[in-house]
Amino acid sequence: MIRCVVCGEEYNNDEIIYTCTNCGSVLELVNDVDVSKNIFENRKDTLWKYKELIPVNEDKIVTIGEGGTPFCKCDKLGEELGVELFVKVEGSNPTGSFKDRGMTVGMTKAMDLGVDTVGCASTGNTSASLAAYAARAGLRCIVFLPSGKVALGKLAQAMFHGAEVVSLRGNFDEALEAMTSLALEKHLYLLNSINPFRLEGQKTIGYEIAQDLEWKSPDRIILPVGNAGNISAIWKGISEFYDMGFIDSKPMMTGIQAEGACPITNAFRKKSMEIDPVENPETIATAIRIGSPVSYTKALNAIYDSNGYSQTVSDEEILAAQKLLAQKEGIGVEPASAASIAGLRKLKDEGVIDKGEQIVCVVTGHLLKDPNTAIEASTEPVELDADINKLKELLLNK
Ligand code: F0G
Repeated sequence: MIRCVVCGEEYNNDEIIYTCTNCGSVLELVNDVDVSKNIFENRKDTLWKYKELIPVNEDKIVTIGEGGTPFCKCDKLGEELGVELFVKVEGSNPTGSFKDRGMTVGMTKAMDLGVDTVGCASTGNTSASLAAYAARAGLRCIVFLPSGKVALGKLAQAMFHGAEVVSLRGNFDEALEAMTSLALEKHLYLLNSINPFRLEGQKTIGYEIAQDLEWKSPDRIILPVGNAGNISAIWKGISEFYDMGFIDSKPMMTGIQAEGACPITNAFRKKSMEIDPVENPETIATAIRIGSPVSYTKALNAIYDSNGYSQTVSDEEILAAQKLLAQKEGIGVEPASAASIAGLRKLKDEGVIDKGEQIVCVVTGHLLKDPNTAIEASTEPVELDADINKLKELLLNK
């Protein structure tokens, strides 16, 4: 069943619906299944090992092998920050971001519904993922991207997988509004995270973290927040495992936003359930350059219900954290992803995070998504002839 998170109105799983017709709020899927956690143990490590908990037609699955991402213990960085740190590396998904988890489930639903066109607005990663999954499913794909604000790798993916790409004059929020209008007029099936089936895929990040920790919850999960779907999805996954008795505690959900795009943090500071949209969001972390997140109700519920937190970080803090993770732990992520590490550092310094806490930072997208930012932040290579003496000199001078 699909249910409104605010008024509780219920809908059938096969209705094409994105928001509640009664009160306009966001929707979620309610699954009434009872399984033993042992069934997941010896299955292939993709998110479909949890298929009993993902409410779509198993015969229609569109997959490229998503989920089962690395869960890296980061002792060097953890020691520096005074916590026990694990990093969930979502850049290892097929198109290089966590969006593939949502898209494999969303595209499966699209196939089951028999639609012929799918669409999304995107800051980049959703469009890259949608384009790939639409290609695999053989569906027409239309994406709206905020003009001039999409990182190069993501743009290359969306175009190369054959999506019809519209570079929209305006920001992500405006692009999403336009795309949603077209979906409501039934010109296409919307696969932004307002579509509750997307979050059914992304909730498996929560499942995997619990299983990675041998059926325990960490003290805290930290992640970047843009349109606010992912924090909501992870909380749903964690809560489902808790309700089924697979884990006996839940983590503090900690959402990090960029200073120039922080409506969720602003609401958290006021202990409010409502957001004031940010008119002209700006940050180097273009993935989370969002002023009016559609899933804010779910995200704020997750933060408040888990006794969690929300904080902002500056672009400088994001870039420093991105470099630290790359150079101390070998994990290359795009700027938005590094917001989780930057947030961890800031909250530890502020005393919100205790010494020794067990923390999982979700890093959401791969370094190569945004090669320009990586190159700008690096020292240029030295150009030399293949002269062994000159090369030796260089080596010995270091
Ligand atoms: N990290 C990355 C790398 C992202 O691409 C996004 C969102 C987020 C974090 C934030 O997740 O929106 O669920 O709170 N990217 C979307 C896109 C908006 O269009 O690719 P969220």
